[in-house]
Amino acid sequence: MEEAGRERDRAVPAEDLGVATKDTAVVNTKPAKRYPLALWIAILGLIMLVGVYIFSLSLKQNGMLFGLMQTNLIEKEREKPCHDPSIPDTEIPYLHYPMPNTYDRKECACTGVRFFAILSMQRSGSGWVETLLNSHPNISSNGEIFSVKERRSNITAITKTLDKLYNLDWYSSAAKNECTAAVGLKWMLNQGLMKHHQEIVEYFNRRGVSAIFLLRRNLLRRYVSILANAHDSAMKQLNGTHKAHVHSKHEAEILAQYKPIIDKKTLITELKRSDKLASSALVNFKNTRHVVLYYEDVVSNRTMLMDVLDFLRVPKRKLSSRHVKIHTKRLCDHIDNWADVNNFLKGTRFESFLNGSRR
Ligand SMILES: *[C@@H]1O[C@H](CO)[C@@H](O)[C@H](O)[C@H]1NC(C)=O
Ligand SMILES: *[C@@H]1O[C@H](CO)[C@@H](O)[C@H](O)[C@H]1NC(C)=O
Ligand SMILES: *[C@@H]1O[C@H](CO)[C@@H](O)[C@H](O)[C@H]1NC(C)=O
Ligand SMILES: *[C@@H]1O[C@H](CO)[C@@H](O)[C@H](O)[C@H]1NC(C)=O
Ligand SMILES: *[C@@H]1O[C@H](CO)[C@@H](O)[C@H](O)[C@H]1NC(C)=O
Repeated sequence: MEEAGRERDRAVPAEDLGVATKDTAVVNTKPAKRYPLALWIAILGLIMLVGVYIFSLSLKQNGMLFGLMQTNLIEKEREKPCHDPSIPDTEIPYLHYPMPNTYDRKECACTGVRFFAILSMQRSGSGWVETLLNSHPNISSNGEIFSVKERRSNITAITKTLDKLYNLDWYSSAAKNECTAAVGLKWMLNQGLMKHHQEIVEYFNRRGVSAIFLLRRNLLRRYVSILANAHDSAMKQLNGTHKAHVHSKHEAEILAQYKPIIDKKTLITELKRSDKLASSALVNFKNTRHVVLYYEDVVSNRTMLMDVLDFLRVPKRKLSSRHVKIHTKRLCDHIDNWADVNNFLKGTRFESFLNGSRR
C-alpha cells in the first residue's frame, strides 16, 4: 500500500504584477527637449528602479497574502464550534462538517466527515470491497453513481453530483443510522473519470477527497469474469434473472459452469487496453491523497482493509460481506480453449497471468 500526500498549487497570478510598471513607463516616455540627455537617462533609470521596487514589493505581498489565506483557513476551521484541537493541521483539509440541505445532522453535526472515492474497473472486486466497507457503522459508500450517463456528461454535471454526495444529500441504501465519518462512492475508470481527470484531480485536491484505487493484478482472470458476466447478462441463468454478484455457493457454481472460448486478437487487445488504462489512472491521480489496493492481495489477506480504515481515519472494525466469489478454480477450469490461450500468451508480457493462483 502506498500513501501519497497532495500537492498544493502555489502559483501567483503573474498577470496582476507587471501592470503598474508598464503604466508608469508609458506615461513617462514623452521626450522634453529642455533637459540634457544625461539627466533624462538618470530620470529613466530612477523610474526603472522604482518600477522594480514596486514589482518586488507586490510579489512579496502576494506571497504573504497567500500565506495569510492558508493560515486564515486553518484559523477559521479552529474557530468552528466543532473543531477538535487534537486534530493536526495537516488533517484539516480532509476533515469536513457537512450541513445537508435535506435534513439536520443533529447529534452527528460535530462528527467530522472524510470524503473518499473508490477508483476501480469493472470485475475487479469493487462490489465486494464496497459491501465490506459499508458494513462499517461509520462508512457510507454510495455505489456506482456515475453509471448514469447524464451525471458524467460534462464536468459541471460531475461536480454537481459530487457536491451533493459529499454534502450528505445523496440517498442510497448506504445511508447510516450511526454518524457518518466517511462518505464516498465507487467510480469506474471508464465512467468519465479518465476523460475529465484534470478537473477531477483539481476537485479532489480542492475539497480534500481521498482516492482508494482497487485494481486487479491478473487481467486474464478479470477478462474471464467480464465474459462470464456478459454471458449471464444475456442468458439470465439464475431462474431468469441476471446477477453480477451472488450471495450463495450454489449460485456461484451455476455461474461458473460457463467457460468462455477466447479469441486471440480480442484477448491481446483487451489485456493491453486494461493494462494501459490502470497505469494511466495511477499516473493521472498520483498527486491526490491515495492508496493503491490490489484485489488479489485483499482476497488473500483481508487485514489489508484495516489499512484502508486507517487511511479513512475511522475506528477499526471487523468487516463483512455476503458476496460469494464466482470463479474459484484454476484458470484452466474456467476457459474452454485453455490450450489455445496458453499458446497465445506464451512469450508475451502477459504470460504470468496463466499461472495466476485461484483468484
Ligand atoms: C452538462 O450536462 C448536463 C446533463 O446532461 C446538461 O443538462 C447541461 O446542459 C450540460 N452543461 C454543459 C455546460 O454542457
Ligand atoms: C461512529 O458513529 C458513532 C455512533 O453514531 C459515533 O459516536 C462515532 O463518533 C462515530 N465514529 C467516528 C470516527 O466518527
Ligand atoms: C430457482 O427457484 C427455485 C424455486 O423457487 C429454487 O428452489 C432454486 O433454488 C432457484 N435457483 C436459483 C439458482 O436461484
Ligand atoms: C496482511 O496485511 C496486513 C496489513 O497490511 C499486514 O500487516 C500483514 O503482514 C499481512 N499478512 C500477511 C500474512 O501477509
Ligand atoms: C508456470 O508454471 C509452470 C509449471 O507449473 C512452469 O513450468 C512455468 O515456468 C511457469 N511459468 C511462469 C511464467 O511462471
